[in-house]
Amino acid sequence: MTKEEAKQIIEEKTKRLNEHNYKYYVLNKPIISDFEFDKELKELEQIEKKFPELLLKNSPTQRVGGDITDNFKVVKHKYPMLSLGNSYSIKDIEDFDKRAQKTLGLNNIEYVCELKYDGVAIGIQYVNGKLHQAITRGDGDKGEDVTNNVKTIKSIPLVLNGNDYPLEFEIRGEIFMPLTAFEKLNKERKKKGMPLYMNPRNTTSGTIKQKDSSAVAKRHLDSYLYALYGKNLPFKNHYEGVNESASWGLKSPTLQNNYISICKNIDEIKNFIDYWTVKRSELDFQIDGIVIKVNNFEQQQELGYTSKFPRWAIAYKYPAESITTKLLDVTYQVGRTGAITPVAVLKPVLVAGTTVKRASLHNADQISRLDLRIGDTVSIEKGGEIIPKVTQVILSERQSTSTPFNYTLTCPECNSLLVREDNEAQHYCKNETGCKPQILGKFLHFISRKALNIDSIGKETIEQLFENNLITSLDTLFDLTFENLIPLERMAEKSVTNILKGIEESKRTPFEKVLFGLGIRYVGETVAKKLAYHFKSISNLASANYENLIEVNEIGERIAMSVKNYFENEQNLNVIQNLKNHGLELMINEDKLVASAGVFDGMSIVISGTFENFSREELKQTIESNGAKNASSISSKTSLFVIGNNVGPSKLEKASKLNVKTVSENEFIELLKN
Ligand code: IVH
Repeated sequence: MTKEEAKQIIEEKTKRLNEHNYKYYVLNKPIISDFEFDKELKELEQIEKKFPELLLKNSPTQRVGGDITDNFKVVKHKYPMLSLGNSYSIKDIEDFDKRAQKTLGLNNIEYVCELKYDGVAIGIQYVNGKLHQAITRGDGDKGEDVTNNVKTIKSIPLVLNGNDYPLEFEIRGEIFMPLTAFEKLNKERKKKGMPLYMNPRNTTSGTIKQKDSSAVAKRHLDSYLYALYGKNLPFKNHYEGVNESASWGLKSPTLQNNYISICKNIDEIKNFIDYWTVKRSELDFQIDGIVIKVNNFEQQQELGYTSKFPRWAIAYKYPAESITTKLLDVTYQVGRTGAITPVAVLKPVLVAGTTVKRASLHNADQISRLDLRIGDTVSIEKGGEIIPKVTQVILSERQSTSTPFNYTLTCPECNSLLVREDNEAQHYCKNETGCKPQILGKFLHFISRKALNIDSIGKETIEQLFENNLITSLDTLFDLTFENLIPLERMAEKSVTNILKGIEESKRTPFEKVLFGLGIRYVGETVAKKLAYHFKSISNLASANYENLIEVNEIGERIAMSVKNYFENEQNLNVIQNLKNHGLELMINEDKLVASAGVFDGMSIVISGTFENFSREELKQTIESNGAKNASSISSKTSLFVIGNNVGPSKLEKASKLNVKTVSENEFIELLKN
């Protein structure tokens, strides 16, 4: 075979096999047998082996994976990957419709109803018709680059069809494991005596983070892609966009005649929900509800977003599935703050496709409310949450010999007497510095992604360091040395260097994240930010009295007391002094703020659209740290309107009518510099 001939055959076979792949995986309508397909694939593989330089980028032989990713790169999403508000009744949907009608000043809105696929969210970018990058949802702002793995999913094209797709766009959707693939996988595992996987969703989520992409290729993952994002997309509504994406070869729900539907009123939405309540058991994948979206893009823009959800979409969740089983025992978990959570140990049962062995019991009151006794038959429910709940005791099945349940008086880990303070639902172990799960929990929180983000250290290492007396209080993490670490089990030169590098780099963590990492009770991420920006340094914060604390916007009594108590404790002050000595930044670094504080003192600023240089959160933060307030809608009190991409015309009109100064993102940056 000459090279010229080989080139032609490779091109033909690649094209033909890709078409068959498309028919099989995207349309679910194969026209040749697996045998015929495999035969031709082998032929192609052989010719490619002889002429590797002729291998095409979109060759179906490349779907078997092989690329290894050691560390998934963390990438910022171009458009934040938001979640959806949940609802459990038609009444909630009616309220959602009324709110939207009111905001838009309309009495009829066109919606699109879709399946809510229960999988793993993914954002896939296509550039010039080629799959460029695939990113997991992560925290919504940044996700992990899992491109190599996603490339092995056969329903996701490597190259698009035709030529009328936008040159750059992102398509978002859900990756999932079909039920038949999941069952087959577990059957094989059972045969090999391996532990079984819990459910398709968790298995998908584990699979998509495998380092070896050839392992992913073997898992038969599938997908549906349900939303388009990009600059100047030529569509006026959501449905049109996803429908058009099907013609580029993407697996759009519009390829099926009943997975997605335009609904012109609540009755039509209700019909869609009712239809799938019955039919969902016939699908080869799990759905956990229906998503209802406002169709028109301009209306979506006008409705806007809360900090977490779009105001133009809502999820209707199917009711939780409930089942009965036996309560075998109650154990207790100790959290990082010392909070004790009782956990029901159950006779394993299958609920909503997963085996349930444990369920949360929340607190002592919940146990008395249920009048729970060991040996009882109980109802358990699995709703939106991952952890199921015990909802009631079947009293008719209670054994006459059963005795009332006594809640533990002591910590299951360190035996200290538990305390339950007034107004608290939870019992607490107060042995903060001597109770192992509390200490480990504090360390894990300290190094977690939203705090010091030391990803070279995991749970096992923290446990190992603690067992070896190498870490006691948070600051001692910075005392670790190469000589301390290298003799430990499972440590090698590379891992030790990595750990120390991670620790060293974490010294540059911004103040608000360190503050969050200290794990002060009730000081979550947002409160930490507020306190950091208000007090500017840890010394100011430590010397603040109750009144100073309560003055801060949104800081209430409970938080103020907790902060005060924290800084009254000698040991905590010691930790902070040591962290300072180690060079951690325990103050707001003014140079790093984009501008000197106060540029926008006292102003009320509205932002709209998506931005190139900031996430919406960062932009809001910048506005606040420069003295202004973020407002959500334009009024005569608005001082400045900052517009990004895709701003709805109605907002622009309103701003111009009210004579509100309107600036682009770049103009805003210029203002900051002045
Ligand atoms: S739209 C801003 N459509 O459900 C709108 N999401 O609970 C974001 N999901 O994060 C999503 N099926 O991972 C949308 N047809 C669908 C969906 C869907 C499943 C997932 C998605 C989202 C989560 C929210």
